[in-house]
Amino acid sequence: MKTLDKCNDYKYADEVKEKGIYPYFRAIQEGEGPVVRMEGKDVVMAGSNNYLGLTTHPKVKEASRLAIEKYGTSCSGSRFLTGTIDLHLEMEHKIAKFMGKESALLFSTGFQAGQGTIFPLMGRKDTIFSDRENHASIVASNMLASSLGVDVVRYKHNDMTDLEKRLSKLDKDAPKLIATDGVFSTFGDIVKLDDLTKLAKEYNANVVVDDAHAFGVIGEGGRGTGHHFGVQDDVDLTVCTFSKTLASIGGFVVGDERVINYLKHKSPALIFSASPTPANTAAAIAALEILEANPDLPLKLASNAQKVRDGLMQSGFNVVDGETAIVPIIIGDDEKTFKIWKMLYDEGIFVNAFIAPATPPGMQMLRTSYMASHTDEHIDYIIETFKKLGRQLGLI
Ligand SMILES: Cc1ncc(COP(=O)(O)O)c(C=O)c1O
Repeated sequence: MKTLDKCNDYKYADEVKEKGIYPYFRAIQEGEGPVVRMEGKDVVMAGSNNYLGLTTHPKVKEASRLAIEKYGTSCSGSRFLTGTIDLHLEMEHKIAKFMGKESALLFSTGFQAGQGTIFPLMGRKDTIFSDRENHASIVASNMLASSLGVDVVRYKHNDMTDLEKRLSKLDKDAPKLIATDGVFSTFGDIVKLDDLTKLAKEYNANVVVDDAHAFGVIGEGGRGTGHHFGVQDDVDLTVCTFSKTLASIGGFVVGDERVINYLKHKSPALIFSASPTPANTAAAIAALEILEANPDLPLKLASNAQKVRDGLMQSGFNVVDGETAIVPIIIGDDEKTFKIWKMLYDEGIFVNAFIAPATPPGMQMLRTSYMASHTDEHIDYIIETFKKLGRQLGLI
């Protein structure tokens, strides 16, 4: 038996492909907006994280083009050494100001921002309290930290009673960090950050929030979860991605200048990885400027998602209620989920099929998500098609 033999034994994806209902790795041939071209036909995109629809905005595309002209296609080095360009500094300045924090640091992806922020802050005496449904980037930090002897305490999802029970077991002076997603990426629910920050004060803990699905979506002008609850001053660090609202790829952390300075010199994910490309950084700056100039965009996004949520709930679908851009429809088993996914695709709608381990057992779902740039026609078409197929399959 060799290590790679398990790859030959893995057959599940092939079995789903043979049935013609495999939903993953489908290529987009053109477009990144609310309508994309796939396999030669136009498809309404109801699964993208392009929340404000800015990936196709002329100003964002132009900023990217100009950055390539000026700096070339890559920085070819880490921020620490040859990979810092003035666009990185400009974005750090702008994003810190926008988020109401002293300082910011860019990373090459949101995953690296999360992992590269939390892990370097952990020492042997620290304990990290982590929501059970946190994103994989926080889970990766936890695994790295625990290999160094850091205690990782996982508390029940968004359950402040459970968090308090666990916090209270530790000495008040023991250093501790609470790490949570702002908006949880599978179900789209919002962390109870007002209660969480109260507990953090009471038990003397620091707080880090991953706002990947909250930035541009909730909070005043799209400033995320801290602003949504009016507790941004009590959030020590917010980590986030460029790959959703900011129409690019990259990530950032914002917080106090001394903490950012520490991360600059201690974060392996920053120091040993090339910096965000000029084009990606310029695109994110342009997207941020558009968001700042159009604080109503998150409201349009919320209204689009709410229309679908209401429409599908009223039709009898098992929809997870919420107030973000994510609208999950629980189907309940793999085969049914893949089947309705394929029927939607054939009708010209692309959604995401989520099965275990992304969902708990029995919660397999179609995870849909919306953009500010979806029109009423797109939204109506999505609702009507869901209804038609839901009836055909006996789901409603
Ligand atoms: C909550 C959360 N954090 C971090 C990330 C990672 O962001 P990126 O795609 O920039 O690596 C994601 C992306 O899916 C996410 O959902």
